[in-house]
Amino acid sequence: MLVFDQVSKSYKKGSVKAVDDLSLHVRPGEIFGFLGPNGAGKTTTIKMAVGLLRTDAGRITISGYDIAKDPLKAKAVMGFVPDNPDLYERLTGLEYLNFIADVYRVPVDVRRQRISRMLEMFELTNAIGDLVQSFSHGMQQKLALTGAWLHDPDVLILDEPMVGLDPRSAHLFKDLMHEHCDRGKTVFFSTHVLEVAEKLCDRIGIINKGKLIACGTMDELRDQAKSEESLENIFLGLTEQ
Ligand SMILES: Nc1ncnc2c1ncn2[C@@H]1O[C@H](COP(=O)(O)OP(=O)(O)OP(=O)(O)O)[C@@H](O)[C@H]1O
Ligand SMILES: [Mg+2]
Repeated sequence: MLVFDQVSKSYKKGSVKAVDDLSLHVRPGEIFGFLGPNGAGKTTTIKMAVGLLRTDAGRITISGYDIAKDPLKAKAVMGFVPDNPDLYERLTGLEYLNFIADVYRVPVDVRRQRISRMLEMFELTNAIGDLVQSFSHGMQQKLALTGAWLHDPDVLILDEPMVGLDPRSAHLFKDLMHEHCDRGKTVFFSTHVLEVAEKLCDRIGIINKGKLIACGTMDELRDQAKSEESLENIFLGLTEQ
């Protein structure tokens, strides 16, 4: 469960209001897609949720833990992949994953099982002994996603996770998200790929100029937009200048 309660954030001493009074309740078992034009406030929202930025106002809780007041507990139950993962390039892929598993105290037998499953799925098994700096962009993305999954977090927060994944990996990754949520966990991710959001997400939120301008299931969004159209048309209509 991930809850935003009247969250705001400005940059440059208040001259840029990036997130404006955002309230949102992402439930257990839900895949939630967070959409919005470039500069709408998605990454800012995500950075506040994971404790990389402080809110100016409001509160964010992850599985009941306030990210500002109880950051270690909140971080222990979440997994995060930023839009441009900066991995430790001088570790091998396997050293990186073991480091992450150590940080989250994942028992050795459990981590072995999870790592080997994810590597097989992402076809990374052969490369995992190589230095991260030799990985392609997509391979680094897969490594970051594998790391975020290792401690089986209650809430996964992913900023444009599909960027760089080849079609097969993207397909398997979507299955993985479903499987995670079927076990009562939560996935919150930003994307610009509306077709993926339409098919994959239980609910969708659209942010524009820092404000949440729509939120709900596809049916609810159609009702709100008073049209039977695709998510693309709803999005374009709602975010028109
Ligand atoms: N570090 C920063 N300093 C000043 N302004 C910033 C900073 N980061 C973001 N902004 C501004 O805040 C607003 C929201 O940016 P944000 O990165 O959250 O958008 P986004 O929805 O993630 O966009 P994109 O789809 O391009 O990733 C933009 O106006 C941006 O210029
Ligand atoms: Mg962004």
